[in-house]
Amino acid sequence: MLTSVPKVNSASGLPNAGKLAYPTRTWNEKRRTMEPLQGKRGLIIGVANDKSIAWGCAQACHEQGAELALTYLNDKARDHVQPLAESLGVPDRLLLPFDVTREGELEHVFATLEAEWGELDFVMHAMASATKAMTTSRLLDVTLADFNFAMQVSCHSLLSVARLGEPLLRKAGGSLITMTYLGSERVMGNYHFMGPMKAALESCVRYLAEEMGPDVRVHAISAGAIPTRAASGIQDFDNLLRTTSERAPLKRLVTPREVGNLMAFLAGPHSQGMTGGIHYIDGGYHVMG
Ligand SMILES: NC(=O)c1ccc[n+]([C@@H]2O[C@H](COP(=O)([O-])OP(=O)(O)OC[C@H]3O[C@@H](n4cnc5c(N)ncnc54)[C@H](O)[C@@H]3O)[C@@H](O)[C@H]2O)c1
Repeated sequence: MLTSVPKVNSASGLPNAGKLAYPTRTWNEKRRTMEPLQGKRGLIIGVANDKSIAWGCAQACHEQGAELALTYLNDKARDHVQPLAESLGVPDRLLLPFDVTREGELEHVFATLEAEWGELDFVMHAMASATKAMTTSRLLDVTLADFNFAMQVSCHSLLSVARLGEPLLRKAGGSLITMTYLGSERVMGNYHFMGPMKAALESCVRYLAEEMGPDVRVHAISAGAIPTRAASGIQDFDNLLRTTSERAPLKRLVTPREVGNLMAFLAGPHSQGMTGGIHYIDGGYHVMG
């Protein structure tokens, strides 16, 4: 929500200040002593196990006071996700199945959240997938089917989440956050056709920020290499981990929990002037020549 600022006295030195806009949703002074996400409600998509980046996000948001809903991919994944969800006090009714290739599941997620909460302060979209071709195919050789599958799960899913989540996010003045990687803008060994997926995802973030503003903010986090299940699908990933930690200015990898802290910041009140950006958390690796 934006409001026009009343014309100020020209003595203030602000020419045409009446045409400028400032936020009406401001950080509540009375709640300054509370955790930043106290009273906020968010959906975290992408917890597969306790190594997942989404799990680091769920922990950080929980620690900062948020109430959470989580999704799991299928019955097999539920066995891993359910105990984690329970440890954060997520009620069973807010632990929901979601496979983007299965029709109706995302609709069910948002219908449940609408019935339970009526509005939504943040959504974390931390999901990507590709077929086995990812480990072998050059971009030159990728088939349309393999390309389309990766695009559906890793990029178009963000648009589905944004479209279905929009009414609830708008009501709360919420944030939508996704995960990307430096392979979108630089050629990273063995990232193959996931590079173009992440490039498309980052572009979607910029357009969504414009389309969903001023009520909803949209962000991407570009994390450094982290050993997770999805990352294990990248050929010679151990080598990427090694070079990342050797070359990064901080001389180490980042953790899912550190990514979670950034995500919680982007979901919370202290980042309310930010939208549309790609935010790096990679020990500084991206600045190296
Ligand atoms: N691990 C890294 O080095 C790294 C670096 C930068 C960005 N990322 C990104 O972070 C995000 C999370 O990945 P991660 O590394 O935590 O791995 P992960 O394997 O823990 O998480 C990937 C998630 O994607 C979900 N997913 C896969 N197919 C799906 C489908 N059809 N429908 C719904 N969900 C589906 C899985 O259930 C899983 O929870 C991904 O977008 C990944 O590209 C990872």
